[in-house]
Amino acid sequence: MISDSTFRALSSLETPFYYYDLDVLRNTLDSITKHGISKGYHIHYALKANHQPKILGYILAAGLSADCVSGGEVEHALSCGFNPDQIAFAGVGKRDIEILTGLNNDIFCFNVESVQELKVINGLAAANNKKARVALRLNPNVDAKTHRYITTGLEENKFGINEEELPSIFELLPALTAIELIGIHFHIGSQIEQIEPFTHLCNRANELNKLFDEKGFDISVINVGGGFGIDYSNPDSSGVPDFEHYFGTFHKHIKLKPHQKLHFELGRSIIGQSGSLVTRVLFTKEGRQKKFAIVDAGMTELIRPALYQAKHEIELLSKNSRPAKKYDVVGPICESSDIFRTDYELPELKRGDLLAIRSCGAYGEVMKSNYNLRHHIETIYSDELVELKMD
Ligand code: LLP
Repeated sequence: MISDSTFRALSSLETPFYYYDLDVLRNTLDSITKHGISKGYHIHYALKANHQPKILGYILAAGLSADCVSGGEVEHALSCGFNPDQIAFAGVGKRDIEILTGLNNDIFCFNVESVQELKVINGLAAANNKKARVALRLNPNVDAKTHRYITTGLEENKFGINEEELPSIFELLPALTAIELIGIHFHIGSQIEQIEPFTHLCNRANELNKLFDEKGFDISVINVGGGFGIDYSNPDSSGVPDFEHYFGTFHKHIKLKPHQKLHFELGRSIIGQSGSLVTRVLFTKEGRQKKFAIVDAGMTELIRPALYQAKHEIELLSKNSRPAKKYDVVGPICESSDIFRTDYELPELKRGDLLAIRSCGAYGEVMKSNYNLRHHIETIYSDELVELKMD
């Protein structure tokens, strides 16, 4: 919920823009500290969700590490202050030059997704007199029960190494002298709203951990990925995800040996509820079947509704007592998929009204494009508004 004074400060700004509420981020990080870090868990923040340096500053200060999926993200994490030994580098298709970035910086670990990748990393590390620490990303064949575009842990998905391939990897590993196998890694998908897939994942992780042990591989890192979902329908009452339940589930079900550490890679649940996309109503239009509210942000600024049929709540910031009407809230882009919500109830809208599209902190700003040669948009933080409010 955005207060009246915040609204007044925001309404003077050029729209559209991304707005981040730093109190929500701080409360989220406090909850992660209380329920996750306190249990000795290592939480890597998935930079792909949002890589704003200011946001990374808060996350780093809270004691989180980094999960990167490109050489660019590794370089960015380093330049924002993460230590090389905090950086995990994942991704199903790493270029040689990106692998070298990781090797030259002595990062904590590569999450490796195929036998071929393992051999390539070994070759590059040997040629550069380096030792690459590696966690094997295993495909556990666990259904995350989420949108199919963000499901990653099923056999049909491109991610990870299947269990059938493990015997040949066990045979191969001793010959890969520039590889140090330190862990096993899983990531079954994103925006997982039920807890049961995580319980299932724990059971699979326990089985595979045991298998590596039986084969004589001493691994210290069990990385269970990310994927914890947020409540898009209730951005205020569920501003901080239920980390007590989430971490508690792993605490209850995962079996670690005394020297093993549990690692996570969370993105959306850390930053999702902090961000809003603030946009203005340009025009209202009565179609034959629908009322349209045409706003100045589009799928170029937030692609999630068009790509994953995601439903973000929309809040009218200029409070009024007009009667409720149903609108299709649409953007200005020349694509029929440029729709934020259909038949969405809002107080009657007028040109100039300010709307906040909520829960956009993760995979919002980072996925924007300049399709249609859209102009660059600003990023505003709640602490900057203090100054604006005093002006
Ligand atoms: N680890 C790996 C290996 C991943 O692929 C991902 C996300 C994460 C961690 C972080 O997952 P999270 O905790 O944020 O769910 N653009 C989509 C989401 C794509 C997620 C990709 N992988 C969306 O807007 O819903």
